[in-house]
Amino acid sequence: MSKHKIAVIRGDGIGVEVVGEALKVLKAAGSKFGIDWTFDELPWSSAYYDDHGQMMPDDGVDQLRGYDAIFLGAVGRPDIQDHITLNGLLLPIRRTFDQYVCERPSVLYPGVTSPLAGKNPYDIDMVVIRENTEGEYANMGGFLYEGDPNEVAIQTSAFTRRGCERIIRYSFDLARRRNKNNHVTSITKSNALGYGMVLWDRTFAEVAEDYPDITTNSLLIDAACMDFIRRPEAFDVVVASNLFGDILTDIGAVVAGSVGLASSANFDPTRANPSMFEPTHGSAPDIAGQGLANPMAQILTSVMMVRHLGEDEAADAIEESVKSVLALGEILTPDLGGSASTGSVGDAIAGNI
Ligand code: NAD
Ligand code: IPM
Ligand code: MN
Repeated sequence: MSKHKIAVIRGDGIGVEVVGEALKVLKAAGSKFGIDWTFDELPWSSAYYDDHGQMMPDDGVDQLRGYDAIFLGAVGRPDIQDHITLNGLLLPIRRTFDQYVCERPSVLYPGVTSPLAGKNPYDIDMVVIRENTEGEYANMGGFLYEGDPNEVAIQTSAFTRRGCERIIRYSFDLARRRNKNNHVTSITKSNALGYGMVLWDRTFAEVAEDYPDITTNSLLIDAACMDFIRRPEAFDVVVASNLFGDILTDIGAVVAGSVGLASSANFDPTRANPSMFEPTHGSAPDIAGQGLANPMAQILTSVMMVRHLGEDEAADAIEESVKSVLALGEILTPDLGGSASTGSVGDAIAGNI
């Protein structure tokens, strides 16, 4: 029997609901495949902020250090400014644990209808590799003359050669492992951002020389937004800076049917620190607490976690179970055109296992 110790942070809104469903599924897979899970639930959230004036304890990140993985729902509640909730929990975890790879697949599964006309299963099958620790999210800056009509806000991006190189190299290695089109697309904006994005482009060209078996192209972010809609089948692995990757992955999610299917992982590939698994979507306050949320994104995110933990058989079984519920087309949440509840989708997926 293998043992894994997971820190569970449900967070806010639908995060609470969809993590509950994913835990059901993980427990079912645990019994079937002999995995002894420990799930330690940490109540860090906006509700925790109400009580303590902070999103997690001062030593919160240190508490997470000993876990094999962090499994997170979503954070954010409309009555608290997002920069407080996200900079108080999610973003410092990504940075402190050097989870420099944010990996976000976008796959059109059988049984799912893309909003784009004429797309067949697996016509869309790409992975966006988003830089996750620096770039536009470096969180360097400040206010001058705060509140004054002359107020100044400085928000600095930070691109390092090491940061660009390691994420780009990861993308090329992934293109080799996938062995699909053996292609990497780099997302840039060096026509306007003449420093950071120029370093990005230069690094991309240098790294590409080490991978003669992988073809490449470079796309400006605005054109890439268009092509994610116009011809998403053209992409295999896409590597992007932090902000560009964030935006592109919401497009990638919706063209593949719903953000309710969009899984995501924040990896420290060196494994020196725990990696964190949270779906692409947020806390969806517009549908929270009503049993409307699709738990599949959280469950497919758990597949990435289970695979990271080396439990390939269990990961495959969970993924197959999600796919069979999609293909059946009977127990789906409203985002996929159905009328089933969050809980009944979770039950169906766990039941198959
Ligand atoms: P969102 O992803 O929460 O919601 C966007 C839209 O998608 C909404 O209409 C929502 O109902 C729908 N949606 C999202 N997930 C769904 C699911 N599983 N099933 C069905 N429909 C789903 O984005 P937002 O509304 O811009 O952000 C809400 C809050 O979440 C904000 O506070 C934001 O900062 C935060 N956020 C957090 C994370 C995170 O913690 N990882 C990610 C994104 C946004
Ligand atoms: C995401 C989210 C976060 C991000 C927000 C909530 C800070 O949108 O994970 O995609 O921008 O990274
Ligand atoms: Mn996002």
